[in-house]
Amino acid sequence: MYVCLCNALTDHHVRDAASEGAKRPAEVHAACGCRAQCGSCVKAMLTMLRDLPATALSGYGQGVVRGA
Ligand code: FES
Repeated sequence: MYVCLCNALTDHHVRDAASEGAKRPAEVHAACGCRAQCGSCVKAMLTMLRDLPATALSGYGQGVVRGA
């Protein structure tokens, strides 16, 4: 599912970035080698980051897809 249309970031990108330690949307964007543009995704991304259970992150960490 696309979360950030401006940068074509999906929920997988958000989870991967979170598994690498991203706790804020700006950190997710940075981990993916981009920056927020319109900002429409920030609220949804914050919700995702807040709601990701710690156990959901344990299977990730294979690396963040950059420049998607
Ligand atoms: S949708 Fe993410 S910056 Fe526009």
